[in-house]
Amino acid sequence: MVAGMTESHPRISKAVIPAAGLGTRFLPATKATPKEMLPVVDKPAIQYVVEEAVSAGLDDVLMITGRNKRPLEDHFDRNYELESALQKKGDADRLAKVQESSDLATMHYVRQGDPKGLGHAVLCAAPHVGHEPFAVLLGDDLIDPRDPLLARMVEVQEQRGGSVIALMEVAPEQIHLYGCAAIEATDEGDLVKVTGLVEKPDVADAPSNYAIIGRYVLDPHIFDILRKTEPGRGGEIQLTDALQQLADEEKVGGPVHGVVFKGRRYDTGDRGDYLRAIVRLACEREDLGPDFRTWLRSYVAEEM
Ligand code: UTP
Repeated sequence: MVAGMTESHPRISKAVIPAAGLGTRFLPATKATPKEMLPVVDKPAIQYVVEEAVSAGLDDVLMITGRNKRPLEDHFDRNYELESALQKKGDADRLAKVQESSDLATMHYVRQGDPKGLGHAVLCAAPHVGHEPFAVLLGDDLIDPRDPLLARMVEVQEQRGGSVIALMEVAPEQIHLYGCAAIEATDEGDLVKVTGLVEKPDVADAPSNYAIIGRYVLDPHIFDILRKTEPGRGGEIQLTDALQQLADEEKVGGPVHGVVFKGRRYDTGDRGDYLRAIVRLACEREDLGPDFRTWLRSYVAEEM
């Protein structure tokens, strides 16, 4: 038996990345290009997400894709023509960059025929995942690589069982943009017990200002629940509705815990957040940062 693995508690090794949404907030850029392929500095947003899964120890990655999403598959595949052109030129640095994404993880793909909602996208992963706990990383949610989150969530799931979601405190007037959790404190500072969930509530109905962000470690019972989950808000099959049931049914797939994230996170499907991600990550880059920061300082000084 592999170290760190027991019969009743296999080590989590599978990550599911839903990337089949229509990306309407980013039109027209996303008319023919998946939003997950938009570059954040010089890497597509989705590569950061796959790198995050791999650095948390999950190197079996299933991407849920849809129409217009072929570039996602191509990005994580070999490109022999480009590789041999760079080899001929002796451009080892760029060759390494091209090969990096195809060597990252074992990639699998499944198509979600119609984008019927995040819950439906996760259900498409059932045959691949089987009966093990697994992680879900939303393809348009970028967690800054300097602020790791997923490894802590995997640790909590391995210690406490059930399912684990990621939460972030937001201003009350922002909560209608997110799923929202009702919570109770635990004996660990960054960890809460989730007692209820509601998708995009009005501020007056929100049980807290803890928003659900795009990282989950789920018990496979979620699939049984999703099969029975009716379309909810926006006519979509909502993952939040199925999680609510996990939180209610402690013995089947629950309890649900929340890791409270205080790091940097960007919704790359939102134009403003996408720009913030590029500026922040570019400033930190060793190669581009020094020049870019100098330019940015003078630009801000002129504009303010
Ligand atoms: P979003 O609601 O942010 O994605 O879904 P969207 O529908 O593409 O965005 P807009 O609002 O039209 O701009 C969150 C995540 O769930 C995936 C999306 O790709 C995104 O990563 N998703 C959503 C699916 O895979 N399938 C769906 O049916 C819906």
